[in-house]
Amino acid sequence: MIIAVDGPTASGKGTVAKHLATRYGLKLLDTGTLYRAVGLAVLDAGGDPADEAAALAAARALDLDAIDQDRIRSSAAGTAASKVAAQPAVRAVLLKAQRDFAANPAGAVLDGRDIGTIICPDADVKLFVTASLEARTERRLKELRGRGETIDFETLKAQIEERDARDMGRADAPLRQAADAHLLDTTALNVEEATAAAFRIVDAAREV
Ligand code: DC
Repeated sequence: MIIAVDGPTASGKGTVAKHLATRYGLKLLDTGTLYRAVGLAVLDAGGDPADEAAALAAARALDLDAIDQDRIRSSAAGTAASKVAAQPAVRAVLLKAQRDFAANPAGAVLDGRDIGTIICPDADVKLFVTASLEARTERRLKELRGRGETIDFETLKAQIEERDARDMGRADAPLRQAADAHLLDTTALNVEEATAAAFRIVDAAREV
């Protein structure tokens, strides 16, 4: 079974994907980590994530086993990720690793922006997880403060809005709900409720 989970930043898609993988015994790939690692590598090299040559070189050099899972969670890495992700050459390099992962005979859950539309258009179940801008800002604020980053609500909200616009507005593989994806709005749901709703969607889809 392949489950595709897409949605905007801080929608809860990562948490939902993690619980789905555990419940159904599937491998999990958070595809955002790939773009974050590329963006961070460009920043670490002193480059500009919007610079196509720098981003492409970082994507080609990416070592999946050497990704610093802590440093890629910073807001700077997130913004850089969104910038490198807008470049078709970078997406082309990262496509194969994602498709290979999805081909795992044991099945897989992948979460990102274009899983249901581009990476796994034939996924068995597709979820599009979203939440209001305010709810997503609140969640990301908690996460970043937990990491020791100091940022105020309005600044973060503007950053998230800008990232949404870039992820949805790019020409190549923009963030959008696949026609056959189930919508899961987590605005008013806590983690348990969102997870339970996702389980219901997948269980119902498997019965068909
Ligand atoms: O899910 P995230 O916040 O970790 O993703 C970081 C950025 O990476 C996001 O702003 C857009 C990009 N991304 C993408 O373009 N396609 C994916 N499948 C996953 C992430």
